[in-house]
This record gives sequence, C-alpha cells and structure tokens, in this order.
Amino acid sequence: MSVKLNIVSDLHDPKTVDFSKFNYDADYIVIAGDSDECIPILCNEIALRKSKAKIMYTSGNHDLFKRDRLVEVKYPISGSFKCVGCLRFMEKENNILFLMAPLLSLVPVDTKLCKKLGDYEEFRTFFPDLSDNTSVLKFNHLWNTKFVDDLTYLETRIDEIPNVKVVVITHGIPSFKLIENSIVYGSQLNIYWASDKCLFNNIFSKCSLWIHGHSHEFCDMMIDNTRCIRNPLRDYNMQILPHAYSYTIEI
Ligand SMILES: [Fe+2]
Ligand SMILES: [Fe+2]
Repeated sequence: MSVKLNIVSDLHDPKTVDFSKFNYDADYIVIAGDSDECIPILCNEIALRKSKAKIMYTSGNHDLFKRDRLVEVKYPISGSFKCVGCLRFMEKENNILFLMAPLLSLVPVDTKLCKKLGDYEEFRTFFPDLSDNTSVLKFNHLWNTKFVDDLTYLETRIDEIPNVKVVVITHGIPSFKLIENSIVYGSQLNIYWASDKCLFNNIFSKCSLWIHGHSHEFCDMMIDNTRCIRNPLRDYNMQILPHAYSYTIEI
C-alpha cells in the first residue's frame, strides 16, 4: 500500500502563508524546517478539516536560533493534532521509518563567513558583550555541535528497526550535489547550507527518500539509490511559490 506525502519546507513567516492550500488528503504533511511558527496553525487546520493527515517535521536554522531556542527544546506535539517532530525524532508507521533531525552543516570553527548570516545577527543579540572573535567561535561551535549530535542520532537510529522503508527528514542539505544547479552554487556561504556526501554515505545507502529544505530552490534528484527532494514554499526573495503548497508524492 502506498502512502501520500505532501512535502514542503521553508514556510517562514506564517502571516503570509495560505494554510488552505496544503494537501489535506495526503497521509503525511512533511515540513522540512524553517517553519516552526507555522506548525500550530497547520495543526489547527488539520483538526478543523478532520483531515487524516499527520505532520512530520523538523526545525530549521531559522527556528533553532530564535530567542527561545538557543537552549534546545525537545518536544513532540502529539495527540489530537497528530504531529510529531521539532528536533530529533523517530516515528514508525505504515512500514515507514521517519527519521527527523535539523542536520545543518559542518563549518571551520574560525570562519568569519557566519557574519553574513541572519542567524548570526540574531545570535549576537544574545551575547552583545562577547568579543568579535569569541562570538564567531561560539556561533560556529554551536552550529557544528548540533550537526554532530544530529548525525549521530541518524546513524544510530537508522538500523534500529529492520525491514522498513526509511525516510530521512532534515533541514540541512545532505550533499553539495543537491545545490550544483543552484544559482548560489560556488558561494563561500554554501558551507552553511550543505555538507559533503561522504559524511552521509552509510545513511544514504540505508534510506530510500531524503527530504530536506534550507535552499529556496526546488530539487528532486537521485543520489545513488536515494531520492532527494527539496520543495521550499518561498524563493530567494522570500516570495511564495503558489504551486509549492500541494506538492505530493506517493511512496
Ligand atoms: Fe529557509
Ligand atoms: Fe534554512
């Protein structure tokens, strides 16, 4: 029996999202990060429509570096809203193992490129007294620590249940190949967007579908035997791509 996944990422500001346009007939609405503030509203829409859809989601960098998220919050939203996710989370249903983690990227700890990120500006408001150098080191260290913890989580959990189809949901991009056709490819900042495939080899070979976000450009391609999908709701100018709401696949 196949299941339908409505896949979207990067909803960002809920005020301009049209929540009527998601595919509430899908079995799962998969939200691959940068969308935390939209999740309660989406839960509400599901309840109002008496939809059978269940939300699977993980947080993105936009969510993690918010004021209330610098200390990691781990919570599943469950019960009547049928929603699981946030940081690291695992759910098995319909013979599918969903594994969720933000999994951003790994960067040189002393690189000052982070100063070009909005996340860094947000982070800096927490620590205005830190010296410039210390602040850069602290930000990059935090970024990397989250990545290592997420990677360890995925590597550990992916073998836990035999004979299931594995779907990995991250916000970060699990291979530079997935941004090769991007208009930003070659940017020095790409180290904050993706990590190299070799780090993920043993995960890639064990999952059939890898859903991610972070780059605001659509992507649907195979890496070896793994289908990799990114379907951001917004483009690089943060304008909504109306066709993106209901993008649905069957697995
Ligand atoms: Fe985003
Ligand atoms: Fe992002």
